[in-house]
Amino acid sequence: MTVLVFLDPAHDDGRLVDATQPQLLATDLGATRGDGIFESMLAVDGTPRKEQAHLDRLASSAAALDLTVPGADAWSRAIRTGLGAFAEAEPDRTHAVVKLVATRGVEGAGQATAWVQVAPVPAATLAQREAGLKVLFLERGYDSTVAQRAPWLLMGAKTLSYAVNMAAIRYAKAQGADDVIFTSSDGKVLEGPTSTVLLAYDRDGRRTLLTPQLESGILAGTSQSALFVAAKEQGWELGYGPLEPHHLLEADAVWLISSIRLLAPVLSLDGQELRTSAALTAELTGLVERFV
Ligand SMILES: Cc1ncc(COP(=O)(O)O)c(C=O)c1O
Repeated sequence: MTVLVFLDPAHDDGRLVDATQPQLLATDLGATRGDGIFESMLAVDGTPRKEQAHLDRLASSAAALDLTVPGADAWSRAIRTGLGAFAEAEPDRTHAVVKLVATRGVEGAGQATAWVQVAPVPAATLAQREAGLKVLFLERGYDSTVAQRAPWLLMGAKTLSYAVNMAAIRYAKAQGADDVIFTSSDGKVLEGPTSTVLLAYDRDGRRTLLTPQLESGILAGTSQSALFVAAKEQGWELGYGPLEPHHLLEADAVWLISSIRLLAPVLSLDGQELRTSAALTAELTGLVERFV
């Protein structure tokens, strides 16, 4: 089942509501304009993973949209309320998706609408982690320097306007693929619609993890960032692009990494088979599963 907790100044720990009943006004700018932000984090045994990193990114998305949202403490209390209610309703589930959403609120009200949603991890997400992904390169249509020139495009913010990202995944599915890696108009590898691109080179005893340049207009992934810290301690070398498609085709393994699906191996790109490594996937997944 899904648990919903609204952040409400009259309720310190958040206001638990019935998720099967309407809760949002139709004039909410989140619904009418997609004007808002969100985060998705994994919770294991009732504890959110990388909570501070998600709260920090929520705050930076809010700043990019010039949106005033509740503070980190209010979010944390609402998350605890939501996870408590979820554990009562679903005592056998160890894992949950915790989604934080804040919109610009009802037109004219000048106050954000904010809530926490706790729900089971979709079975399809887990299946993709196991099976791996056939991926298409799709162009995003912007060059890799647009984020600096045009901050109003909100390129590095996690906004509610994900219709384009979802359309890209539907396009890939219609072509028989599972997921997408966006490329820039100047030929750089960017990100997945809901994930960060990660590749490994394991050559002559040197093991390197690479991810695209953060400044190329992509969302800074909390999973990639935490993995880089953990991998460095294990002796991996790290690098931030710029990456082009050939770097992925030449890599020893490529993954799409994100908070809920974790590391999903990329099996092919535009129909071309990639090298994969069950050993590297297991090693890095071991690090990812220890995130706190
Ligand atoms: C566009 C985009 N890039 C990257 C990510 C991965 O971020 P994280 O590892 O913080 O989940 C996401 C997550 O949903 C995303 O939507």
